Amino acid sequence: MTKLAINGGPKAASDLEIPRWPQCTEKSKEYVMDSLESEKWCRIIDGADWVDRFEEEFADLHDAEHAIAVSNGTVAIELALRASGLEPGDEVLVPAYTFIATASAVACMGGVPKFVDVDPDTFNIDPESVRENITEDTVGIVGVHFGGYPMDVDELLPIVEEHGLFFIEDAAHAQGSAWRGQKVGTFGDFGTFSFQQSKSVAGGEGGIVVTDDEVLAEEASLVHNIGRPVGAGYKHTMLSSNYRLPELQGALLTAQLEKLPAENERRQENERRLVEALEEIEGIHTLREDDRITDRGYCVYNFRYDAEAFGGPSRDRFLEALRAEGVPASSGYGLPLYKQPAFSRAQLGSMVPPGTDIPVNRHLHLPGVEEIMETNIRLSHTALLAEDESILAIPRAIEKVKRNADQL
Ligand SMILES: Cc1ncc(COP(=O)(O)O)c(C=O)c1O
Repeated sequence: MTKLAINGGPKAASDLEIPRWPQCTEKSKEYVMDSLESEKWCRIIDGADWVDRFEEEFADLHDAEHAIAVSNGTVAIELALRASGLEPGDEVLVPAYTFIATASAVACMGGVPKFVDVDPDTFNIDPESVRENITEDTVGIVGVHFGGYPMDVDELLPIVEEHGLFFIEDAAHAQGSAWRGQKVGTFGDFGTFSFQQSKSVAGGEGGIVVTDDEVLAEEASLVHNIGRPVGAGYKHTMLSSNYRLPELQGALLTAQLEKLPAENERRQENERRLVEALEEIEGIHTLREDDRITDRGYCVYNFRYDAEAFGGPSRDRFLEALRAEGVPASSGYGLPLYKQPAFSRAQLGSMVPPGTDIPVNRHLHLPGVEEIMETNIRLSHTALLAEDESILAIPRAIEKVKRNADQL
């Protein structure tokens, strides 16, 4: 009998080599020192070198006409909502399985987030649930390319068009992902990205919005610079806040972005290895393969666990055993967004005009989301940067736990 590591046995994944994250490369030091020594640290004083360059390189990489760098991925969504014309009390559809920012941004801008279900085979917003939830008060959708897996825009765009909605792609996880050869972020009115430390382009903090629409880009630029064009002195044409990215961050992010294409290739290669091995394990469900996805970025890599096929241990017990074997896996978010206290009627009510219709979220049950909550196994994108074939230590550890599940 092989002893599970959780019971004191040897680790099955001791050879899994995951690089540290984030990485301070020579180029990062060079670019940041250049910015530091230039003594131009803010884009609106003496002009921007690094933030301009970062915007250009990011837009190029994402086939976007315009990019406006901002201080994080949360305000990127807020800015996109504002520039898309969201008004107080407007209803916006959002997936109920995502990081809170996708939905809290709507509420913080005075809108009402309405939660829709997600597809457990992709972790993305379910177009059927979108159709069911549209009302005459719905003005837009904020969808997420969850984990970097692109949303089905073939299904979503006709709905957007039919109902005259705005569509924001929260691509916080999806730097480099493409659908039918087009990078994500420009299918909708805006794409928004995050460069927080755990993301695949890491700047500590940082964000960007991209768009192909010139008018929206101008509006977004005004919004990001406290209501005035960059370089326009003290004449402010709208009320807004300051969302600007500092020059030092622009320099760091330019260096980090330049290594993304090679890293994404490696992640894709490792994902192929991983999927091939995981598909052999009964009770592990990988995400749906879709050949319309022509390039992949990643923030996390998800699959699902079937406790019955593993002889009974709960997902959480299985995860404990897997972690003990040396696999840094987690269960993802602990709560569907509709169960978050932040989305109670009282909280939402405090952000919208009196008389706005507010749903009672705690009574919601969305089966796709709840299925994911019970079965999700999540790896970081850094696991997909594992050296050589050491990624195969992950399925090996899963198989070991499965064979010895009676020890749990
Ligand atoms: C899906 C999603 N949207 C938005 C954000 C917000 O990004 P930031 O942390 O840069 O504000 C995150 C951050 O984790 C995210 O996962």
